[in-house]
Amino acid sequence: MSFNLSEFKNNILSKKTPDEILQTAREAKLKKTLGVFDLIMLGIGAVIGTGIFTIIGVAAAGGPESVGAGPALVISMIIAMFACLFSALCYSEFASMMPVAGSSYTYTYATMGEFMAWMIGWILMLEYAIGNITVASAWSGYFLEFLKGFSHILPSWAVNPPVYLVNDYRTAVSIYQNMGLNPNDHIPLLFNCIPFAINLPSILLIIIITILLVRGINESAKTAAVMVFIKLAVIFLFIFAGLHYIKPENWTPFAPNGWHGIISGAFIIFFAYVGFDAISTAAEETKKPQRNLPRGLIGTLVICTIIYIITALVLTGIVPISEINIMAPISAAMSSTGNNWVAGLISIGALAGLTSVLLVYQLGTTRILYAMSRDGFLPKKFQEIHPKYSTPHIITWVSGILVAIGALFMDLNVSAELCNFGTFTSFTIVCIAVLILRKVEPNRRRPFKVPFIPLFPILGVLFCGGLMAYSLLNLGTSAILFPLWIVLGIIIYFVYCYPKMRKEN
Ligand code: ALA
Repeated sequence: MSFNLSEFKNNILSKKTPDEILQTAREAKLKKTLGVFDLIMLGIGAVIGTGIFTIIGVAAAGGPESVGAGPALVISMIIAMFACLFSALCYSEFASMMPVAGSSYTYTYATMGEFMAWMIGWILMLEYAIGNITVASAWSGYFLEFLKGFSHILPSWAVNPPVYLVNDYRTAVSIYQNMGLNPNDHIPLLFNCIPFAINLPSILLIIIITILLVRGINESAKTAAVMVFIKLAVIFLFIFAGLHYIKPENWTPFAPNGWHGIISGAFIIFFAYVGFDAISTAAEETKKPQRNLPRGLIGTLVICTIIYIITALVLTGIVPISEINIMAPISAAMSSTGNNWVAGLISIGALAGLTSVLLVYQLGTTRILYAMSRDGFLPKKFQEIHPKYSTPHIITWVSGILVAIGALFMDLNVSAELCNFGTFTSFTIVCIAVLILRKVEPNRRRPFKVPFIPLFPILGVLFCGGLMAYSLLNLGTSAILFPLWIVLGIIIYFVYCYPKMRKEN
């Protein structure tokens, strides 16, 4: 068989037109049940979580690999918000024009062709599936803290489980080392050679979430809404209780590490914003998507930014920067004021917050994989819709099991950084894709248009690209793993997807 270069080029650049994409979506049997309120609930469910409950501490006070922004974290938050805002506007233009499952994966297919579409789908798995691993690990930590509060009624194995049953291997090793113990004496070996350390609570949580998602997106959205209310309630509790303990002198110096700290903080706190784009993955299940999607996306972003800024001001006003707790900054700040019961309630809210983030992320993962399977990149079996619940149940289980396996092995910090890389990339691509489609299809109906074209998408590319370049220069493990992930994606495309797509056409 001879190799035809121009045919190859045509194949990898072949696009799905927006009309084809809409037609495929019309043939699908997903139920349309979500309105603006549901979307904002899904959005806040995906956005407010690990970032504001945990990562805010490192962003403000600094961590092993980064310097803190100090009280100037509010400026970092505004910078991160702008990176998201320009991208959100671009997402809105696409989502209102093509209200279909698949998010930036689908938009890339319409503008940059088959190969780039696959790559973006593959990169989105970093944002969604790997991001989920981060959140599940953080949830597991909070859950154990929560159980400790009941040490007087629970058996000791539940309050103090073996470290190797509630942590991944790397974390377990560092915990044993910090305790002055030799990990080899404590981590059991499977078949006498494989060290056995698993994060059991996070796996259990992912399985429960998967069962919920198989039962239906509407039920899942309702569950997310309950958790969103709980986490918002505890954040407001923190803000109103904390207002009485603010000491303005804690806000000086305002930016102890100057712009370096502020930019570093913007990169880190970006994780707190990751997820608002998950709304667009539910486009096919949205009522009146042309109107509801842009409102859902921008509404979520504005609400979250306001909450974050006030929370950061209260946190840095209550506790001097040098005393901000890194693992549980919000509840520890409350404890420091002597309000232990408020601190306890905040831990419960954090658990609810992280659970809702997981729920929406897992939903996003399945809908992107569903769209990729429908386009022929992945096995057809993945598209099977459950006869009773009308959800793509096979893909939901497959992704649930894969994420659960990932949670066994992955370290929280590395997975969070990889998630950021995936998100920066998909935001950048969506901003570029808007510009491309404006050029090639200027007359297509756009119920929502990004204002100030081409300035806003270009600013989106600059903000996201700048933060990505900064993190590539400043990080270790994840800055190596991210390019490896890209290379693996390219290999899978040429070995599996490319021949499969040609055979099926
Ligand atoms: N924004 C999400 C969180 O903070 C990923 O957990």
